Amino acid sequence: MMWQRVSCDKERVDVPGTKGTLMLGDALNLDLSAYEGRVQCIYFDPPSINGERYRFRMRIGEVGWNGGKRHIDLPAFNGHALSDKEGYINFLTEHIQLAKRLLTPSGSFFLHADWRFSAHARIICDKIFGEAQFRNEIIWSYQTGGISKRYFSRKHDTILFYAKTRNHYFDITQVPTSKKSERSNHLKRHVDPQGKSYRSITTGGKTYIYYDDEPSYPDDVWTDLSQMQQKDPQRTGYATQKPVILMDRMILCATKSGDIVADLMCGSGTTLVSAAQNNRQFLGVDIGRNAYSVTRKRLADTALTCFASYSNQPMMMDATVIPGIAYYDVMLNSYTLPANIFEKLHQDKSSGKIIGLDAVDQWYAGLINGEAFVVYASSVRLKQTPKLDQKLSIPLLKGTIAILIIDVLGNRSLWTASNEI
Ligand SMILES: C[S@@+](CC[C@H](N)C(=O)[O-])C[C@H]1O[C@@H](n2cnc3c(N)ncnc32)[C@H](O)[C@@H]1O
Repeated sequence: MMWQRVSCDKERVDVPGTKGTLMLGDALNLDLSAYEGRVQCIYFDPPSINGERYRFRMRIGEVGWNGGKRHIDLPAFNGHALSDKEGYINFLTEHIQLAKRLLTPSGSFFLHADWRFSAHARIICDKIFGEAQFRNEIIWSYQTGGISKRYFSRKHDTILFYAKTRNHYFDITQVPTSKKSERSNHLKRHVDPQGKSYRSITTGGKTYIYYDDEPSYPDDVWTDLSQMQQKDPQRTGYATQKPVILMDRMILCATKSGDIVADLMCGSGTTLVSAAQNNRQFLGVDIGRNAYSVTRKRLADTALTCFASYSNQPMMMDATVIPGIAYYDVMLNSYTLPANIFEKLHQDKSSGKIIGLDAVDQWYAGLINGEAFVVYASSVRLKQTPKLDQKLSIPLLKGTIAILIIDVLGNRSLWTASNEI
C-alpha cells in the first residue's frame, strides 16, 4: 500500500463535552476575530525577560515512558533578551491589547509574572485596562526551586488580576478552601447555645464572628496550591508548566460552565486541561511545535478543533488498512525520520538510536471529509500507556482514510493511501 503526504485546513475530534480550539502560531498573526468580545477569562503566562533557554524533555519509546532514562532534550522556548527591554514591553503590550479585545464586558484577565517583569506588567495593564479595573495582585507562593544566601530566596510569582469593566463576573463561592489555621489561631474560641463552635475578634468597635463549619475562601496570598513535585504524574517535561489546580482556582471563579477560556501562550496546555475538566470551552494558542504537541496529547480525548501546519521533513511511513464488517483496522507498521536529524540535536548517548515506532509520540486515525480530518481513534504515549497501539479502528463511514503522526520532534504529518482499499 502506497501512502502520500496530504494537508487539511483543520483537524477535529468530535466527542461529547464542551468544545475547544487549539492553534499553532503567534496569536498576533492568527485570525481570532471570531473570538472578539466572547472570551470570559484569559490567563496569560508569557516568557519572562531573562534570556534563558527553556527545554522540553521528550521521553523516547516504551522504555522512556516506562520510567527509564531514555529521553531527548528539545528546545521549548526562549526568555526575552535582557538587553531588549523596549522590545519586551512592546511584546507584552500588543498581546495584552489583543487579550482585552477578546474579552466579554464581564471578562477577567490574569497575567502570571515573575519578579523580573511584574512591575512592567502592572504598568502596562494599568494603561490598557485602566487602574480602576485592577482587582488583585495575587501572590502564588511555593517551596520549589533553589535557595540563595546572597538574597532572600525567590519563592513566589505574582498574578495580576484585571477586570475588563466594572461589571465583571466573579464568584468566590466556587473555590472554597480548607480553613486557614493561621486565621483562627489568634481568635477567641466560643460555643454558641446550639453547641456550634465559632471564633470571634473585635476590632474598631466591631465584632467579627467565624463559625468553624463555615466555608472559607482564598484571599490574595495563595500558599495552599503547591508547585508540582519532580515525580508528579501531571508533569509533561515542558519547562515552566503550571499545576492544573492553579488554573482551576482562576477559571472556577471567573467563569461559568460553558464560557470560553483562552490562553494565548498555552505552553504545555495546562489552562486548556483545566477548562475542559471544568466544562468550559477553550481557545489555546502557542507558537512552539513542541508546546503544541504536548498540549495536543493532553487533549487527546477532548472535543477539539485544531489548526496547525505540517512538517516539511522528508519522513517515511508505512501502514496497512484491513476492511472489516463495521470498521477499518489501520495498522501502523513503521515510521522513519531522516537519519541525520537526531545527530544534529547533539543528544547524549542515553537516547540511543531512535528507530521504528520509537520516533512516534502520538498517532491518530480518521477520515478526511471536505476540509477537515476527523479523528476517530488515537494512541498517545503516556506513563499509563508507554506502548503505542499498533492498530486503531475507525468506522466505515464516508471519507478518505487518513493517519496523522506527531513524532518525538513535534513534526506533524498527515497521510492517505494513494491506491483504493
Ligand atoms: C511560560 S510558557 C507557558 C507555560 C504554560 N502556562 C504551562 O502551564 O505550560 C510561555 C509560552 O509562550 C509561548 N510563546 C512565546 N511567544 C509566543 C507568541 N508570540 N505567540 C504564542 N506563543 C508564544 C512559548 O512557546 C511558551 O510555550
